[in-house]
Amino acid sequence: MVLFNALPIVPLLVYLSRPAHTFPTPRCTESLASVTASATNFDLSSGSPPENATVPVTGTFRVKLRFCEPTVNVPGRADTLQILVHGSTYDHQYMDPDFEPDTYSWVRWASAHGYPTLNMDRLACGESDHPDPVTVVQNPFDGAFVAQIIRLARDGGVAGAHRPFKKIVYVGHSLGSIIGNEVISTVPDLIDAVILTGYGHKIGNPGDAVFLPANEVDPVRFGDLPSGYVTSVDAEARASFYGPEGTFDPAMLAFDEAHKDTVTFGELVSVTGTKDGIVGKPAPDFKGDVFTVAGDSDQFACTEPKCANLASEEQFYPAARSFEFAVIPDAGHCINLHLTAPILYKTALNWLDRHGY
Ligand SMILES: *[C@@H]1O[C@H](CO)[C@@H](O)[C@H](O)[C@H]1NC(C)=O
Repeated sequence: MVLFNALPIVPLLVYLSRPAHTFPTPRCTESLASVTASATNFDLSSGSPPENATVPVTGTFRVKLRFCEPTVNVPGRADTLQILVHGSTYDHQYMDPDFEPDTYSWVRWASAHGYPTLNMDRLACGESDHPDPVTVVQNPFDGAFVAQIIRLARDGGVAGAHRPFKKIVYVGHSLGSIIGNEVISTVPDLIDAVILTGYGHKIGNPGDAVFLPANEVDPVRFGDLPSGYVTSVDAEARASFYGPEGTFDPAMLAFDEAHKDTVTFGELVSVTGTKDGIVGKPAPDFKGDVFTVAGDSDQFACTEPKCANLASEEQFYPAARSFEFAVIPDAGHCINLHLTAPILYKTALNWLDRHGY
């Protein structure tokens, strides 16, 4: 017993999580697509959001896309595109990290099960354009911009795809889920299914997640950005996106900290419907399938013990064909980056399979 207690927990879990498999590397095509979108944003000149959005915004910006073909052929799935949208202060690496991708990459997992994926650096992240972080990059414009990317993909216009897609599965994390929610709320016919991770309408206390202007946090990487681009201050603040010690590999946190990206002031304050701690609108006309998933120690998505609050997410999707939620053990907010990521992927695959995707 003493011997077992003396074993360091983290290396043990890291060892246990080492995958027995090696996923084949998918064939991917990267492109910088020019996308035009229009939305009605908020007037944030006072520093806080007014009740209603009133400012029309139109713009054409380049977005870095990465389309990957599946590595196995599963009939029916080749025409079902998974669109992967990361959250705030991340880029495409959240859904497809270079660090131990056999454990952590949603893209590799999806490819190995027959699904094509479209991963991206969201607008204002990574190699995509960085428009005005206050007037342009807000939740309404983000939603309209992603909707345009989905239209492009659905019609076969994304580099490397060479075909239109019959079904679209939207996979979001955190702000990426809020944006997905905005899309199915405003354009309910564009998407067949949503997997919304790290998000519930009633948002919890973000705890130690302190954000500062990115140009101060890391002048080498972000020195050219205006101060409306912010990011988490250090690895300790970053750790508040994770579960307790032992649920993640410290080397993953170090990789994440070294590759962290930004979020805009406009995004942080413009998420609609913030009254009573509610973040994001209902999607009363969305008729597809909804799957809400969070890690059991996600401080943002879980406001009740064991994330029991996620059951009440169903009320926001009254016309949905189906609603389910799942809680992944031993995981915090950045659910994909935990040692239990393979459980998340198995859970999502099972849900997709049961719903005919
Ligand atoms: C915001 O919009 C709602 C619904 O259209 C309206 O009832 C309300 O008066 C508006 N609020 C303001 C401050 O204009």
